[in-house]
Amino acid sequence: MKGSALKFNPAIDLLRALAEPTRCRLLALLSQGELTVGEIAEVLGQSQPRISRHLKLLSDVSALERFREEQRIYYRLTSGTKAAVLVAQVLAHLDDADETLLADRRQLVLVRDRRVRNVSAHWADVRRSAESTYSDAQLVRDVLKTVFDRNEDDSLGELLDIGTGSGSMLRVLGGRATHAVGLDMSTQALRLARAKVHGAGLNHCVFKRGDMYELPFPAGSFDAVSFDQVLSIAEKPGQALKEALRVLKQGGRIIIVEDSDRLAELAADKPQALLRRWLERSGMQCDKLKALRTNDRQLLLGLASRQ
Ligand SMILES: C[S@@+](CC[C@H](N)C(=O)[O-])C[C@H]1O[C@@H](n2cnc3c(N)ncnc32)[C@H](O)[C@@H]1O
Repeated sequence: MKGSALKFNPAIDLLRALAEPTRCRLLALLSQGELTVGEIAEVLGQSQPRISRHLKLLSDVSALERFREEQRIYYRLTSGTKAAVLVAQVLAHLDDADETLLADRRQLVLVRDRRVRNVSAHWADVRRSAESTYSDAQLVRDVLKTVFDRNEDDSLGELLDIGTGSGSMLRVLGGRATHAVGLDMSTQALRLARAKVHGAGLNHCVFKRGDMYELPFPAGSFDAVSFDQVLSIAEKPGQALKEALRVLKQGGRIIIVEDSDRLAELAADKPQALLRRWLERSGMQCDKLKALRTNDRQLLLGLASRQ
């Protein structure tokens, strides 16, 4: 084959795009989670136009995915493609102890911390409340014990956390999923969740803006769906559960954590009865309801499955 024909070979194009120091730095950085061009430029200490050119080159050969969240453009590594396999191999060849890569990682921690500090007062409140809930190590153990019963090596498979907020449920359950998506309507929440969840090393979790009443996923996409203190503040909890059921695979499970006092304010029933009714009316089988106590609150954990 003539050299000129090889120019159009996607594998050659991909290898060419990867074979450049700044682009290897970008891949190493994005292996730590989803980032905006501004954040990447800040970490690398280079101008945004320069970074954008490299990002475009990597996106053109499908090494990266680009997506928009309101006015912000994010990048992440592609997954499940041939390009993703090659990128993973290149990443495996990079030296973890390389001074430049270490400095980039240190800088990324600072950029993420700033992101968390800059969220609006409302989201800072959500973050504090979520952090105080799950800073109780016994509660985290109780949640895991209830969800996994005696099968501690069980995996949640593909997990969707709806109304992810600051991503606290993903920090509890994400490590047990092969892949996870945190969904929220609020871009501020998603910025916070990215900083917290990716900052905790859970880089296989991705985030997506969307509405729980119209989930942006085909039917049967997930093995598990979680709602952490979302249904009791939802206008239509039954409809949110029906939509969750649609994206669950057959045999898939739903994990719900709710504040018992908030549930009690919604109905004359006991919190357990209300949660069971929501689940059963939306067509799910309620498998377990367990009261969990944390620092200053009483929580209710519900497990259900799609039959
Ligand atoms: C009380 S917070 C949950 C906090 C979260 N679990 C945490 O620990 O940080 C409720 C979350 O649901 C999100 N939410 C509300 N309505 C929504 C909708 N229709 N679709 C998606 N998310 C929604 C809010 O933006 C918020 O992040």
